Amino acid sequence: MSTVIKGGTVVTADLSYAADVLIEGGRIAAIGPDLSGDTVLDAVGCFIMPGGIDPHTHLEMPFMGTYSADDFESGTRAALAGGTTMVVDFALPSPGQGLLDALKMWDNKVARAHCDFSYHMAVTWWGEQVFDEMEQIVRRGITSFKHFMAYKGALMVNDDELFSSFRRVGDLGGIALVHAENGDVVAELSARLLAEGNTGPEGHAYSRPPQVEGEATNRAIMIADMAGVPLYVVHTSCEDSHEAIRRARQQGKRVWGEPLIQHLTLDESEYFNADWDHAARRVMSPPFRNKLHQDSLWAGLQSGSLSCVATDHCAFTTDQKRTGLGDFTKIPNGTGGLEDRMPMLWTHGVNTGRLTPNEFVAVTSTNIAKILNMYPKKGAVLVGADADLVVWDPEAEKVISAKGQQSAIDYNVFEGQKVKGLPRFTLSRGVLSWNDGTIESREGQGEFVAREPRPAVNRALSAWKELTAPRPVERSGIPVSGV
Ligand code: URP
Ligand code: ZN
Ligand code: ZN
Ligand code: ZN
Repeated sequence: MSTVIKGGTVVTADLSYAADVLIEGGRIAAIGPDLSGDTVLDAVGCFIMPGGIDPHTHLEMPFMGTYSADDFESGTRAALAGGTTMVVDFALPSPGQGLLDALKMWDNKVARAHCDFSYHMAVTWWGEQVFDEMEQIVRRGITSFKHFMAYKGALMVNDDELFSSFRRVGDLGGIALVHAENGDVVAELSARLLAEGNTGPEGHAYSRPPQVEGEATNRAIMIADMAGVPLYVVHTSCEDSHEAIRRARQQGKRVWGEPLIQHLTLDESEYFNADWDHAARRVMSPPFRNKLHQDSLWAGLQSGSLSCVATDHCAFTTDQKRTGLGDFTKIPNGTGGLEDRMPMLWTHGVNTGRLTPNEFVAVTSTNIAKILNMYPKKGAVLVGADADLVVWDPEAEKVISAKGQQSAIDYNVFEGQKVKGLPRFTLSRGVLSWNDGTIESREGQGEFVAREPRPAVNRALSAWKELTAPRPVERSGIPVSGV
């Protein structure tokens, strides 16, 4: 059985052109005029783009005494409804737990996934077992390793651990990821705020000023440079962090930054809402920032100093958030966004003229496919690529609401936002999964995507490392001591 998408404009990261797209066996079989197939999808007036890839989700994650409420079933369903066809989640060993053991736990969560997925592996402690198992993790097709510089006493690793792990990742041909916030300072500020009676959700924002992020980002960049590993900074939320990334890239360092759709479109005033639930539902790390920081993030996407837009989808119900009544440090950190990332970015990016449709494709799909070494299987509209596609209707509109959303939680941080630009069809490896407002995917349809180590950037870095490695100077005529 073949499917043909007819009458649309193909939009990739670098080209826009009128063509039909023929799909056979889950892959793109032909692109061109006047194609025919068994099933025809009408794309007149629409753009045919690579499906979105969300490089940062936490589905059914054990965190802060609970589990994030969206699992791989509801989370990947939400993804498809929003035009996203692949998520990259974080396998998270608890401190002391082996990486392979944690991976087994994650493998047990994914049976009902509706779309394709991969993992990053978190390094939450350091020791011989972690060092050894990292190699086996890479052999399993997981080549990106995440480090938390925050969450002191839980997931945080210190600089010596960071340096050791970064070196190991570099040697294995992988890429290092960081959650960059100075966890020591956050812990200190949090304790002081609580002691002074700042117990509400606004205390969360006060405890994590942009400086904690800027400092940690800069530190991670320098440590990564010394270790010779490419670095990806997750949830870049402010100018302080963006500035460090921008500077590093100008110096030729292999560093990428990832703003979230939440930081691009929601600001810190949310934490000062008089309704405790409203504010607590938006508690995440880093917190939302002011307009100056938002402008910086948009400029980064426009100029290329920031590379990918993610969600960090880590959704908690209102009841879960209420664990932190009376103590903001106990509010589970995280927000949702999987269903809304693409429509919100199109509305606030493309419709405002900040981004071209091609740049939209780059930052929602193609760039991360390249960074994580899965291009052009993913992130491309090319013959032979997986038919992970979204047929995007730029004229379709809706008002975002928790009512009818795919996510399992009881609210939506974008509630009431009017968006223009929505997926008409989303196809996951050729299977029509979102059909004009209806989910048609099957549970278990999603497959694990294994990735190869040593993409081109690592090879270039290794060559540079080899050329500049410390070497003893060959000397003739060594002076004899005492002469
Ligand atoms: O607040 C957040 N971002 N929660 C998810 C875990 C993380 O730090 O990415
Ligand atoms: Zn984080
Ligand atoms: Zn995260
Ligand atoms: Zn389902």
